[in-house]
Amino acid sequence: MIIKNKPDFGKIQKIDVLNLKSLEKRAQKVIGKGEFGYIEEGSDDEYTKQHNTTAFTEFHMVPRVLQDIEQPDQSTNFMGAKLESPLLAAPIAGNTLAHESGEIGLAKGTKEAGIMMAQSTFASKTIAETAAVSDGSPYMFQLYMPKDWDYCKYLLDEARQGGAQAIILTADSTLGGYREADIINQYHLKGKIANLDGYNTGKKGVGAGGLFAESMQKLNLDLINKLAEYSHLPIIIKGIQHPADADAAIKAGAAAIYVSNHGGRQLDGAPASIEVLPAIASVVNHRVPIIFDSGVQRGTHVLKALALGADLVGVGRPFSYGLALGGWKGVKAVADHLKMEINIAMQLTGCQTIADVKKIQINSNTHIFN
Ligand code: LAC
Repeated sequence: MIIKNKPDFGKIQKIDVLNLKSLEKRAQKVIGKGEFGYIEEGSDDEYTKQHNTTAFTEFHMVPRVLQDIEQPDQSTNFMGAKLESPLLAAPIAGNTLAHESGEIGLAKGTKEAGIMMAQSTFASKTIAETAAVSDGSPYMFQLYMPKDWDYCKYLLDEARQGGAQAIILTADSTLGGYREADIINQYHLKGKIANLDGYNTGKKGVGAGGLFAESMQKLNLDLINKLAEYSHLPIIIKGIQHPADADAAIKAGAAAIYVSNHGGRQLDGAPASIEVLPAIASVVNHRVPIIFDSGVQRGTHVLKALALGADLVGVGRPFSYGLALGGWKGVKAVADHLKMEINIAMQLTGCQTIADVKKIQINSNTHIFN
């Protein structure tokens, strides 16, 4: 489907960003209570959500000096996409909860920032609407495996036509984690699953409250080939936390591994995402690229993830908050701020390029899960 209408980016404003963490409180003032609760929450006691960020402090980068560095270059290439920075706007459901422009604001902001965007199946704008804005800039589609194979084929067709470079199969969300904010706020995700609109199920624009009910629970390795054969696109597996699962996914045809615990929204009590990355990177052993997310708030976090084996680093909630505060300009401001922090961290660790960042020595006393 080709969208000809001019996109409506809604209320846009340039925002100042002191750091990513401080955006949360500012965004809380402009997002509805239930909507904010849904975006911000983790599962159960939010141990994993919090630990995702605090665990970065257990990994120390040992700076090098006299490395003849000036104006570090953080540009990179991820699976054929040229990026200004190794950053991904991680897939998040229902972006109109944060801002009226939803995924089209996210697409415009990430495009202007020269970073990768991923759109969720449960987006509030259709793939076609988003693709019309993205228009060839780096973009991937995140699939929640539908129970209905015909609907899955429809999504894959739309994603391919929309220029998606890869399909990210979410493997960690066969049901939703237990999230108390939604219960306290009596909140049921109000946004509709826009991607159902173009598909003749009789479920046009159904409320997304039962979104996990639309997804298949019994996921297995055979799906990787099935999706690849139909879509002719690389299949990335998201939600990998165990090295054995990474190995099995690669052997089953995965084109990349996405290390994530869903921002601490699924299994509470899981290790921080950064804690499982080294053992996974060791097993992957450069056979395929690695995407990493969960808990990233600083440029130094991005460097640590890259040094521990990631090739692309995802940031989730802070982009929603930027979107809420400034529309696409807010998204760009978040990316620009992170790039600035990355630039400082590269200069101070003695890294001219992202290839140098990957060689940073990391010291850690923490237990590395393997
Ligand atoms: C969530 C899913 C929809 O975490 O990504 O709410």
